Amino acid sequence: MKNIGIIGSGHVGLVTGACLAELDNKVIIMDDDVKKIGSLRMGVIPFYELGLAEMVHRNTDSGKLSFTTSIKEVVKQAEIIFICVGTPQKPNGEADLTAVEAVSQRVAKAMNNYRVIVEKSTVPVKTGNWIKRTVELNNTNNVDFDVVSNPEFLREGKAIHDFMHPDRIVIGVESERAANIMLRLYNPLKAPTIVTNIETAELIKHASNAFLALKISYINAIANICENVGADVTKVAEGMGCDKRIGREFLDAGIGYGGYCLPKDAAAFIRIAEEAGYDFELLKIVQKINENQRQQIIGKVKNALWNLNNKTIGILGLSFKPDTDDMREAPSIDIIKKLQEEGARIKAYDPKAMENAKAIFEDIEYGKDAYEVAVESDALIIVTEWDEFTNLDLAKIKKLLRQSVIIDGRNIFDPAEMSRLGFIYEGVGR
Ligand code: UGA
Repeated sequence: MKNIGIIGSGHVGLVTGACLAELDNKVIIMDDDVKKIGSLRMGVIPFYELGLAEMVHRNTDSGKLSFTTSIKEVVKQAEIIFICVGTPQKPNGEADLTAVEAVSQRVAKAMNNYRVIVEKSTVPVKTGNWIKRTVELNNTNNVDFDVVSNPEFLREGKAIHDFMHPDRIVIGVESERAANIMLRLYNPLKAPTIVTNIETAELIKHASNAFLALKISYINAIANICENVGADVTKVAEGMGCDKRIGREFLDAGIGYGGYCLPKDAAAFIRIAEEAGYDFELLKIVQKINENQRQQIIGKVKNALWNLNNKTIGILGLSFKPDTDDMREAPSIDIIKKLQEEGARIKAYDPKAMENAKAIFEDIEYGKDAYEVAVESDALIIVTEWDEFTNLDLAKIKKLLRQSVIIDGRNIFDPAEMSRLGFIYEGVGR
């Protein structure tokens, strides 16, 4: 059992803290937000993540997980301190690292014994070095310490699963002492582990997320060709995916990637490359293809309905992907704004994200389910592939719609079946 401190109670911090407690460590999670820590102490999780609430409750009840607003308390009792604070995007695409710097200073000032400071937030390469320098400069009690880069590869909605069953664990270190501490910590997970230097570990994270974005844009580019030649992109993906070197995952064509990670990380990686003297043109095209996918959906709606002015468009799905209530960089935001610019009225439904959506869009009508959204709508757009949309009673939907138009941004329906049911139906790349 190790004593672990987590600084930052966002998505990464809470999941990391809860899972490390589940692995039988004693974990204390710190945040400056007094209200948030107060709620967490009462068992309230500020966002939806599958299985997280249960795990937090279980481990707080057993005394393995606790919360504090005092960084001193964390540094006093935890040998390993994970920095999980936010690294928001600046207007120029760069990551804002002021929170990481401030935390490094505070940790350094409070240290009175050897500590391992782990950078978990997604940060540009060389941040580990900056953390080290900052800690050195503020190391009031002159104690030994190590900085480690240990990037997270957690998908929202599957974060607990990804933590507990990782494809790999990456540990960027400078000393054997810290390497051994980290290896022992993760030993129970029995996962392939890459131990390397800090810069390489930092780059593994960027290169991985950028590659996932590239895979999605690649299949979206193929989807555009498919539409022009009468091919089916879902079959192309299946055919490509059988090749083990390619793999089927992340080859679902659609309205492009969103969320807090892929878009932000691609922008940051372009900036990092630029600073390192490399023009990452490939990744710039990846971004362009992604933006284009959203515009294309609007084109499809217009092809089906002619003018959008005063038409009612039903949006099914608002979160950036299923099983999360996260609206950050969700394709739905762009799509709704573009439809509104064309004069369309919007009705929308999402199983989890409507509260968050209401903070962004006050001027749209929210339905209690997909059927309510379909009533008197001129078209439905599938924006997020929630399971409950795949299982809709389509005959009922058809009766409720004013015009039987479904534009499927996630290819959840079979085009032949939709045509048999009498819909004007358009997927992506089919
Ligand atoms: C992503 C990565 O998958 C994680 O490995 C990484 O740790 C995380 O970012 C992070 O940096 O923290 P996440 O943002 O939760 O995780 O979402 P993904 O499941 O990767 O999906 C991203 C977007 O791509 C979604 O909008 C999704 O709809 C879209 N997508 C995904 C596609 O359009 N097609 C696909 O085939 C797959």
